[in-house]
Amino acid sequence: MPDSMQDLIASWDGEAVVIRYDRESGTWIFVAMHSSKLGMPIGGCRMKVYPAPADGLRDVLRLSRGMTSKLAAIQFHFGGGKSVLAIPHAMEGPEREALLRRFGRLLEHLGGAYATGIDLGTSPEDMAVIAEETRWVFQGDPEGGRSDPGPYTARGVLACMQVVGERLFGGLAGRSVLVQGIGGVGEPLARLLSTRKVRLLLSDLDLDRAKRLAAEVGAEVISPGEVMTTECDILAPCAVGGTLNPKTIPSLRCRAVVGSANNQLENDADADRLAARGIVYAPDYIVNAGGAIAYALMHQGTMDEAVINARIHQIGDSLAAILDEARKRNESPLHAATRRVEEVLAQAS
Ligand code: PHE
Repeated sequence: MPDSMQDLIASWDGEAVVIRYDRESGTWIFVAMHSSKLGMPIGGCRMKVYPAPADGLRDVLRLSRGMTSKLAAIQFHFGGGKSVLAIPHAMEGPEREALLRRFGRLLEHLGGAYATGIDLGTSPEDMAVIAEETRWVFQGDPEGGRSDPGPYTARGVLACMQVVGERLFGGLAGRSVLVQGIGGVGEPLARLLSTRKVRLLLSDLDLDRAKRLAAEVGAEVISPGEVMTTECDILAPCAVGGTLNPKTIPSLRCRAVVGSANNQLENDADADRLAARGIVYAPDYIVNAGGAIAYALMHQGTMDEAVINARIHQIGDSLAAILDEARKRNESPLHAATRRVEEVLAQAS
């Protein structure tokens, strides 16, 4: 695997990447613009401590590609991008705010080459700080208390679980669902599922957090080390990516994977490994488009919650069409989804 920064960029199929070393905080800032074919590249800002700066770059490059696929699949006029703030240590208070301001000013200088939003490690409050420095940030509807895309993403995940549950088991009732990671999407997803007569299993690196939510919604807690080997009907990865790989796939004991995490597969070939094991893999960028849909609609001035939710619910129909296509052609759902994305992008050029 290439790992110098120049190797990573040379082997990437995107358009441009902006790199800034933020001396004041010791943070590496990466802004990846994967594709502007369908419109302005957009994608969230991930803030995380990485083992090395190149790991942050690798993440942003892959994540931005995922955004291109996601946005092409839902057919909004936006391209794919992403930003990563590879911080040297967890940052709060004035230090965090100052970094976010400098990041905001960088986006302002880029002048709309990319617009950001929430992703793992950033919050509505962070976006409000960035918005004081630049226009190029999606905030949803802060006055209406709708600035977090997480709950919208969760609704799309649930719609997809219903489709998969219907096909595999004739419905979700009585089935077990394991939610891995109860953050911005995992938590609202767990709450939605708790009203759906499923047997709910929760896991999080922060065990106390998992225990608290489990007690509240009536779920069992699974320790993080056991997630990939626990028997369940549907596994929902809702945290970091890369959890489905040649090491974990052989030991999975689920019937389907339907979750919100971006880049769940370490490599595209892992989709075939899952298919060979008879596990239905719902492509991540189809399943997790709810937040992007909500942001895009609100950006266009569509504020009606019922309209937004109806559009998000349609993700389930898209997934159903992809699963049908995959079955017909005897290929993995990821193949079918990728073809769809390529068709949309080809029509645009
Ligand atoms: N980070 C979320 C995602 O990956 C939400 C988001 C969508 C943020 C679009 C910015 C732009 O879908």
